[in-house]
Amino acid sequence: MSNQKIAKSGPVLGVESSCDETGVAVFDAERGLLAHTLYSQIKMHADYGGVVPELASRDHVRKLLPLIRETLSKAGMTTRDLGGVAYTAGPGLVGALLVGASCARALAWALDVPAIGVHHMEGHLLAPLLEADPPQPPFVALLVSGGHSMLTEVTAIGKYRLLGDTLDDAAGEAFDKTAKLMGLPYPGGPALAKLAETGTAGKFRFSRPMTDRPGLDFSFSGLKTQVLLAYQKHADEPNAKADIARGFEDAIVETLLIKCRRALQETGTSRLVIAGGVGANRKLRAQLADAAQREDFRVYFPRLEFCTDNGAMIALAGALRLKAGLHDDAAIKVAPRWDLQSLAPLEAA
Ligand code: KG4
Ligand code: ZN
Repeated sequence: MSNQKIAKSGPVLGVESSCDETGVAVFDAERGLLAHTLYSQIKMHADYGGVVPELASRDHVRKLLPLIRETLSKAGMTTRDLGGVAYTAGPGLVGALLVGASCARALAWALDVPAIGVHHMEGHLLAPLLEADPPQPPFVALLVSGGHSMLTEVTAIGKYRLLGDTLDDAAGEAFDKTAKLMGLPYPGGPALAKLAETGTAGKFRFSRPMTDRPGLDFSFSGLKTQVLLAYQKHADEPNAKADIARGFEDAIVETLLIKCRRALQETGTSRLVIAGGVGANRKLRAQLADAAQREDFRVYFPRLEFCTDNGAMIALAGALRLKAGLHDDAAIKVAPRWDLQSLAPLEAA
């Protein structure tokens, strides 16, 4: 996305439609988050065991305008009060992204306000800034969602250096695929985490991939195979399913913790931000909070509802970019794949 300079402020409407959640919010750089609404398509996709892109796009078309009206009404304002419209421009499902982009751009055009195409992962990364006592750069961010597992060094907002990435499955994808092979319903991550709560630690021990060598990359696809083999062999034994789920969750959580610790050491930073859907995992949150206390670093999470996809993080990222004088040209462009490191830093604006 190109970024042009303008000087405009006022509340920013944020639209998220990159996957199976329609999220809308209004964020004001001075007053904070004014309203947000979310519609999840989970029930619709559950019958298919995963997201059906065409159905996702059509449902965003149905839900977006009613949600925009509802959000503005909650914020006690009309479209005329908006200073800009932000939307997720990528990465994500191209049809779903186009629905949000077209709607947001058309609205911005009609209101003669700037439109800002937001990187979905920047939205996730900035979500902890919606909370009280937000983190200040420099910090390290662990971004763990359905499509990404990344460790990023954040030296300024918009200035991101990739420290580590996944070589295969993302952490959320590993949760979802493993849940599916264990016969759990979509979305698998929360279902598997719930089952793991009733499992016993240590009954099944799976590897902590790539922790026995230096580096900050991840690889989670092998874990699924280990779980499949354990499941095929032991599924009929009492409580084995829950014990396997527990073993899997412990393996992922410990792997993420080891890599976070390593990233903090390598960058000499003592602030860690966790964001993305897997950041809603209670075990991960508890273990990281515990490690932070013992090891003298600070960890920042968004509240649970802002870990998974939402409009608030897009409105916030858009408002910060707009405040720094950045927005996009008039073309409706989306980027199903988009390197976070290619964004324009806010400080250089
Ligand atoms: O960030 P997000 O809402 O969408 C993407 O940008 O991908 O993340 C969704 C991912 C899914 O893979 C989902 O299973 C996972 O986050 N997830 C969880 C939990 N809640 C959501 N994984 C583990 N434990 C959870 N509690
Ligand atoms: Zn996401």
